[in-house]
Amino acid sequence: MKNLTATDGWARLIAHVDEIKHTSIKELFAQNSDRRNDFCIEDEGIYFDYSKHRINQTTLSLLIGLARERGLEDRIRAMFTGEKINATEKRAVLHTALRAPADADIRVDGENVVPEVHRVLGKMKGFAEQIRDESWKGFTGKPIKNIVNIGIGGSDLGPVMAYEALKFYSDRSLTFRFVSNVDGNDFAEAIQGLSPEETLFIVSSKTFTTLETMTNARTAREWILTSLGDEQATARHFVAVSTNETAVADFGIDTANMFGFWDWVGGRYSMDASIGLSTMIAVGPENFHAMLKGFHQMDEHFQNTPFEQNIPVIMGLLTVWYTNFFGAQTQAVFPYENNLKRFPAYLQQLAMESNGKYVTLEGEKVAYRTSPVFWGEPGTNGQHSFYQLIHQGTHLVPADFIGFKHALHTLPPHQDYLVANMIAQGEALAFGKTADEVRSEGTDEALVPHKVFEGNRPSSTFFLEELTPGALGKLIAMYEHSVFVQGVIWGINSFDQMGVELGKVLAQNIIPELQEKEVTLGHDSSTNALIEYYRK
Ligand code: F6P
Repeated sequence: MKNLTATDGWARLIAHVDEIKHTSIKELFAQNSDRRNDFCIEDEGIYFDYSKHRINQTTLSLLIGLARERGLEDRIRAMFTGEKINATEKRAVLHTALRAPADADIRVDGENVVPEVHRVLGKMKGFAEQIRDESWKGFTGKPIKNIVNIGIGGSDLGPVMAYEALKFYSDRSLTFRFVSNVDGNDFAEAIQGLSPEETLFIVSSKTFTTLETMTNARTAREWILTSLGDEQATARHFVAVSTNETAVADFGIDTANMFGFWDWVGGRYSMDASIGLSTMIAVGPENFHAMLKGFHQMDEHFQNTPFEQNIPVIMGLLTVWYTNFFGAQTQAVFPYENNLKRFPAYLQQLAMESNGKYVTLEGEKVAYRTSPVFWGEPGTNGQHSFYQLIHQGTHLVPADFIGFKHALHTLPPHQDYLVANMIAQGEALAFGKTADEVRSEGTDEALVPHKVFEGNRPSSTFFLEELTPGALGKLIAMYEHSVFVQGVIWGINSFDQMGVELGKVLAQNIIPELQEKEVTLGHDSSTNALIEYYRK
């Protein structure tokens, strides 16, 4: 593929940004009375307002032109049809098959994968129902009341995010905890107050080799065995979610209690595969399927909607616009829905593990920025900590606001206050407050510069009806596809994660050096000193 910076689209955008940079968002609104309509998409129950961006119609058509030049149509088709677009690992990328209807036909190496997806969903349903109706008993005959998911990265962030997001729909008689960190505090705190007799561990790991997860799983097995005093207890208190049947069996979990998935599902794209088992137990199979339906609706939208009206395409192109043409280094995501408090953390892995890469598919070093740093916190909390920087700091921080028309809990006037704040933030960022406006309030002249808001700070607003399982599915799929669009423009493989390997390998070297104090150290002087400091 042609180098991105050598494309016509890139050259046109470089020329165009020089023109539009001098026009503020306020001026763009003044120039076009219909701007709110021109830069707004309403589809799939999502109202996506992207009018408060530093773009005009020319920007949009140039960005879409760049997407076409980079072969986005073809890449979308390739992904959805199971081509091995994860080239470095020679794998298909088919998280979209996880939410395809049962009669769909999606092939990998000539085999339709959809029946197997639905077989596993059926097995998950059977198990979730047994836990929920208490017919699955622990070793001593008591029903399971506590579910502890052990996993890390994609085997944790999706489940914990979805549990928090959908807590409203969950079975409140069950307790859910999530253990990810190899720091023993995480495990120790997670089991506080839990009775081993009533606790089920879901060991979630695609590879079933991850240091953190396997260490926590072994500690959990020890806890169960010590408390219940019998090896046989493992079978009633552990299930596994993995692609590695051998390692699951070696650990001592009956593979009849294993929920599989496939190498064509990336870890960070797996929360709607069996990695979502804890979610299904929490909210029930029906709600889980409603979430899958939401995912699928967004998949259909992404696959079939012209780029001009395609929500993930526009989102992805906006990220490219600010990253590559305005030098933005971060992108903020602010859900104005407290139950989405783990959504930014989930997105961090999705976006940054996918697109935090400096090598193209051809193995060449990029000459442009790739993924920005994604970050965020729920509104309104963030307003009282870091929003100062977004309004008056020196960084350009494009922001996504995500809000819902209806609250899950009807506690007037909370919802009006919440939504008013979300709308106000987008308005303040875009339009700011001039020195004259500040003066007209009778402000002391010395304070005027401090009280001016320059504005011209871009944001998107996503409005949905209510945080339902289906809405959550749509939101996640929307970001998944937006991340894909960015990766296509940048010409990188969004589906491997080789950058996480080196640290893991070096840690394996250091572990024995910490444990055996006589081992001679052969690192650099700083690393040697750190190890010696710990040894002492
Ligand atoms: O180290 C990164 C990573 O491989 C992620 O991509 C993945 O989600 C996480 O570790 C956990 O991996 P596993 O599910 O195999 O334990």
